[in-house]
Amino acid sequence: MSHAKTIAPSLLACDFAFLQAELGAVHQASATWLHFDVMDGQFVPNISIGLPILVATRRHTTMHIDVHLMMNHPEPLLEAFALAGADGITIHVESTAHPHRALQLIRSLGKQAGICINPGTPVSMLEPLLEGADLALLMSVNPGFGGQQFIPATHARLEELVSLRDRVNPECRIQIDGGVGMGNLLSLFAAGADVLVAGSAVFNARGATANLNEMHAAMQLAGLR
Ligand code: DX5
Ligand code: ZN
Repeated sequence: MSHAKTIAPSLLACDFAFLQAELGAVHQASATWLHFDVMDGQFVPNISIGLPILVATRRHTTMHIDVHLMMNHPEPLLEAFALAGADGITIHVESTAHPHRALQLIRSLGKQAGICINPGTPVSMLEPLLEGADLALLMSVNPGFGGQQFIPATHARLEELVSLRDRVNPECRIQIDGGVGMGNLLSLFAAGADVLVAGSAVFNARGATANLNEMHAAMQLAGLR
């Protein structure tokens, strides 16, 4: 089972005063996924965007909206995120005593279910959850902020997750989030990542279209597109 290699631009780094234009910019570079970071100020030491911005985003794009919930006890809000326009919803294993049940709930809402682990959480925690997941997300920075340095130990963790995924649920996509850019995207795809989140490497002064075009061109040269 092989998945299309995909860059998911993270809106966290965009200029929210120009949301519609920023969506147009990534769409122009043929992005198919959009990563939407929700932070609660408790699970992570920052607050970002939530339901009203998701509704507004949904109104202006047909891209796959990949909602990453960095919040404690996400269960009571899963339905609201589904109704607001998420295509996939990813929860953290560290955020609830019942990640398995939360994944079931996301699927029952007709959405793709994602499970995520922080850099300090063993990859083996994912094993009993992978069967019920459409996406497994390895954080490659400590969540809470864009623009951080990629943690090198992620490479070994990715290798471990790829063999776990291949054994337990080959249909599950592997995603990496944090510190991804031109310097490491090809090696991460080659090592088995399917979806790479990129925030500050896409939304910066150079412009999202130019950045994403460059990434896609490099992927094409490497035979990944
Ligand atoms: C970090 C978020 C990321 C963030 C990545 O907590 O989950 O999705 O937007 O930003 P960059 O690509 O700048 O590291
Ligand atoms: Zn994220």
